[in-house]
Amino acid sequence: MAKSPAKRRCRKAMVPEEPVVDAVNAEVVRVQPDATPPSRKRRRDRGSTPVSPASPRSPVKSATPPRRANGGADANGASKMANSVVTCCSPKSPRKRLFANSPQMPKWNPEDPRQIKAAKEAFHVSTAPATLLCRGEEQMRILEFCKTCIEQDRAGSLYVCGCPGTGKTLSMGRVKEFLTAWTKDVDFQSPDVLNINCTSLTVTSEIFSKILEKCHSRKINGASSPLQKLQNLFSQKKQPSCIRTTLVIVDEMDYLITKDRAVLHDLFMLTTYPFSKIILMGIANAIDLADRFLPRLESLNCKPMVVTFCAYTKDQILTILQQRLMVLGYDVFEPLALEFCARVNFDHMDAALSKAFKSPVVDTIQALPQHQQIILCALVKLLGGRKSSTTMGDLNKMYSDICRSVQFPAACTTEFSNMCKVLSDQGLLKLGQSREEKLRRVVLAINCTDVTFSLKFCDLINI
Ligand SMILES: Nc1ncnc2c1ncn2[C@@H]1O[C@H](COP(=O)(O)OP(=O)(O)O)[C@@H](O)[C@H]1O
Ligand SMILES: [Mg+2]
Repeated sequence: MAKSPAKRRCRKAMVPEEPVVDAVNAEVVRVQPDATPPSRKRRRDRGSTPVSPASPRSPVKSATPPRRANGGADANGASKMANSVVTCCSPKSPRKRLFANSPQMPKWNPEDPRQIKAAKEAFHVSTAPATLLCRGEEQMRILEFCKTCIEQDRAGSLYVCGCPGTGKTLSMGRVKEFLTAWTKDVDFQSPDVLNINCTSLTVTSEIFSKILEKCHSRKINGASSPLQKLQNLFSQKKQPSCIRTTLVIVDEMDYLITKDRAVLHDLFMLTTYPFSKIILMGIANAIDLADRFLPRLESLNCKPMVVTFCAYTKDQILTILQQRLMVLGYDVFEPLALEFCARVNFDHMDAALSKAFKSPVVDTIQALPQHQQIILCALVKLLGGRKSSTTMGDLNKMYSDICRSVQFPAACTTEFSNMCKVLSDQGLLKLGQSREEKLRRVVLAINCTDVTFSLKFCDLINI
């Protein structure tokens, strides 16, 4: 499709490199009418003419086909457009950028430690890729949701879920960048952004003081809690001028789950107050969290829009691996080998690790009766890599706790002592001497990792 210069200009103005939405292919997100309160008058800082979503400046209108990311490799068939939408941060490919000044690209040499290090880094999970492939569709849905809220000047809530490592946090970061670029382009006031990683909260309700601090920098007097202050703030029509629309990104939201889920409910409910200024983005790893708390939110009339990040398919993994290796400038793997890597699943890894690390100790542990295995798990849990020994009394208590938590009938104290002696005879632990049985010291005589590796059971009790 031929592009008019005007359209090309419009795309450039929107996001530095790529269009954000292609009207031909895009699935436009419709915000559920019951998700948020009715729209209010749009607020704009600059200019007096409101920019309608249909205005030529709005990226929603861009009808040009997007550039294919990664030279056309696209594992996500359903989101060809979307992939290119939110990828490519530089006009040059990472590889070209890296070797822009070198006369020729180096050849892969597996004996060169520098190259090995670079390959490891390119693959490392902590390395954020220059381009984020295969998540275009999800990013576009989130972006569209935010844009709608900003355009209609209303609060809203969105819930992002998916297994760890499916690109949720990365995607949210990119959406934030695109949103800022878009607000500039369409001349809207860009929202304030508050990032909260729930793992850093000391108590779950601390989330409300963080939101209050961000939304309202001045101190609000009164004995009420930060939650009540926020509720009051968003209930009154006349709001302090300092209050701006705030994009609240709540990552690792799983940590907010309390027995009654009150914090989660109160948090989402904040977006339903008539003068709420919050666009809430909750990100969680537990895919069943939605089933557990959405019905209640629905009954409270504040069901968030849900975006699920499905696990990558093997074709998508292949695309991602290829793209991550591109920065290196040399081909580390044969294409077939890379395809093979992409097909590897957890069972394969489990089998490979077992082969590599199987030892007589592992065989012995795996052949033990279950109660003795639980005693070893209890010992590992007690020592936790910090202490070198414990007592029979403490070990017995931990053993009983674990039995209770997995609903396994625990053996009596005499039986427990006998089992510890058997484990000691096999050289798996060492028992000290003491007049009182419960004060005898116990030391693990093997490596902790041999126990955790041998016993899948350890996963059940979070060791
Ligand atoms: N689409 C992708 N392309 C390249 N790397 C990715 C992609 N998705 C995930 N990753 C890798 O996985 C890591 C974890 O991603 P992250 O967004 O933190 O996942 P989540 O928040 O879903 O647990 C990233 O740092 C990156 O290295
Ligand atoms: Mg994350």
